[in-house]
Amino acid sequence: MKVLHNIGQLITLEGGVRRGESMRNLGIIENAAVVFNDRIVDYGDSDEILKEYRDAEKIDAKGRVVMPGFVDPHTHAIFAGSRENELQMKIEGKSYMEILKSGGGILYTVEMTRKAGEDELFRQTEKRLNTMLLHGTTTVEIKTGYGLDAKTEMKMLNVIDELSRKHVMDIVPTFLGAHAVPLGKKPMEVIDEMISIIPEAAKKAKYIDVFCEKGVFNVEESRVYLEEGKKHGMIPKIHADEIAYIGCTSLALEIGAISVDHLVKTPDDVIEKLGRSNIACVFLPGTPFVLMSNEYPRARKFIESNAIVALATDLNPNCYTENMQMIITLAMLNMKMSIEECISASTINAAYAIGMEKEVGSIEKGKKADMIILDAKNYKLLGYHYGVNLVDTVIKNGEIVVSHGTLVK
Ligand code: NIG
Ligand code: FE
Repeated sequence: MKVLHNIGQLITLEGGVRRGESMRNLGIIENAAVVFNDRIVDYGDSDEILKEYRDAEKIDAKGRVVMPGFVDPHTHAIFAGSRENELQMKIEGKSYMEILKSGGGILYTVEMTRKAGEDELFRQTEKRLNTMLLHGTTTVEIKTGYGLDAKTEMKMLNVIDELSRKHVMDIVPTFLGAHAVPLGKKPMEVIDEMISIIPEAAKKAKYIDVFCEKGVFNVEESRVYLEEGKKHGMIPKIHADEIAYIGCTSLALEIGAISVDHLVKTPDDVIEKLGRSNIACVFLPGTPFVLMSNEYPRARKFIESNAIVALATDLNPNCYTENMQMIITLAMLNMKMSIEECISASTINAAYAIGMEKEVGSIEKGKKADMIILDAKNYKLLGYHYGVNLVDTVIKNGEIVVSHGTLVK
């Protein structure tokens, strides 16, 4: 048993998922300690805990901030190659959709991912997971979606499976067969091919996702595909309202999706409906940032409407960051979320968005001992001191996996 003691501010996030006003409540204990093995055993006042657990191995937090590891509930972390050339095209005024329609964007990454062997894909993804861990993320969702054919989609699921067995992070797999339409194909042809592998995919993936968007998959095509996934036990998630509003959010509510993600163009009345539901609303502010757009999800409206709000990186070759701290900065400056709201949205609420809220996302008895020590005495440094890594130590399942900002191997 170990005791992490002399914690200046312990951010517990006890008490479950947060909505509205309660997002500002972080459950902070000052001068605190946490007792743990692979799970949290106890926590409370540092002096009292030290008295009660005299024999435990001691780790000194040196008066700094301790909080749950970040949960990143929306990533496309598995892909081959990169798309740095497209950044210049975007700077010169080409839109995301123009690049995609000319065979670039997702379709370029599909080409690279089809060519890559399983080992290569494993190696490239593992490196990104390590970068996430260094930046304090201890649980991550990973989507397929750069196969768009049966063979490559299954290859991606196999690699995700291997990573969940071999990597220390908790990985939640999502089947995103319906991610784009290859040139010369019709959306329904892609849907049909993906439906043909759903029975196999469902053995590996917990969730099923679709890029429901004008010019990609419409609401009806998305519905057919998600319903089929549901029949085989996968739970829907939807990329919705990113570029245009075509009603994808309403489909998410109707079909019983666990989350709806992006939400840049969602109209007021739909936001209010989301607020009355139990669906997680996942914001991905990295995406408008790299698209140089001024339009972000209207977080204030969502929070006022009582929606369950979460944050994620959307890590992909268009929006290439592993760093949840950077996402917090973007959410604060561009979406007017407070630091407390951002912390709730990237821990307990993010865990809820991938069905992991009973296991991770807060420091409470019985939960996984996933904690980070920030190189800061005040949690308000997060978001404010930006573009750097404030994470000094990462504890995953009770083991120190990052120390002094470097991986322990
Ligand atoms: O969530 N919008 C669709 N999918 C990803 C982008 C994937 C890519 O551009 O490679 C997203 O932003
Ligand atoms: Fe995405």
